[in-house]
Amino acid sequence: MTVRWAALASGSGTNLQALMDADLTPGRLVQVMVNNPGCGAEVRARAAGLRVDVVDHRGRSRDAFETELVERLTEAQVQWVVLAGFMRILGGTFLDAFPGRVINIHPSLLPAFPGIHAQQQALDAGVRIAGCTVHLADAGVDTGPILAQAAVPVLQSDSLETLRLRILEQEHDLLPRVVRAISEGRLSRTDRQVRWNNTRQESAAALQVPDGFPSKQEQR
Ligand code: GRF
Repeated sequence: MTVRWAALASGSGTNLQALMDADLTPGRLVQVMVNNPGCGAEVRARAAGLRVDVVDHRGRSRDAFETELVERLTEAQVQWVVLAGFMRILGGTFLDAFPGRVINIHPSLLPAFPGIHAQQQALDAGVRIAGCTVHLADAGVDTGPILAQAAVPVLQSDSLETLRLRILEQEHDLLPRVVRAISEGRLSRTDRQVRWNNTRQESAAALQVPDGFPSKQEQR
């Protein structure tokens, strides 16, 4: 049976693009909502012929904003929500409507570096391994139970932009895989402990080290 997903986005929409390009079966992206009229995500979704709802958060309370989001998602019979670069913090009005069924992608290995400028935080801290995390959204900022992570090496030569792009490449791979795995019903959860039911794919989705891992020489 098809699992109906909506994506919420605010920015350039490259993660949204990755979702639209991927085979999410038995999941299907049935709706895209943006809060930022004219953003890249909206343009991409329209080009793909998806249902697009623009709900601007400006000039109204968070509660009114979230109520409208929920109404539109309910109208489209959405079951799961993926936050794909959605730059608003969601509160109880939204989260209670989709309990445990909202996922988010964040460009760090959580719980390190939550919030904004995660890649800069990683560079400032001097970590050698950065990455990205897909997690269940809760009322905190990037604090929900972790579903999957991908590791990305930090190179001596990295600028903010090169690191951002290397992490983004992994986001584009990881996020559709998690959406598909959830759609296949492979996620089981007890509070913060998340398990994937298929052992082989569990290890692939839980931690992924890309090919570009630095040689010993580069690490010195
Ligand atoms: C990504 O880095 C994502 O992890 C973060 O916001 C960025 C969105 O990029 N939450 P895009 O709009 O998907 O290109």
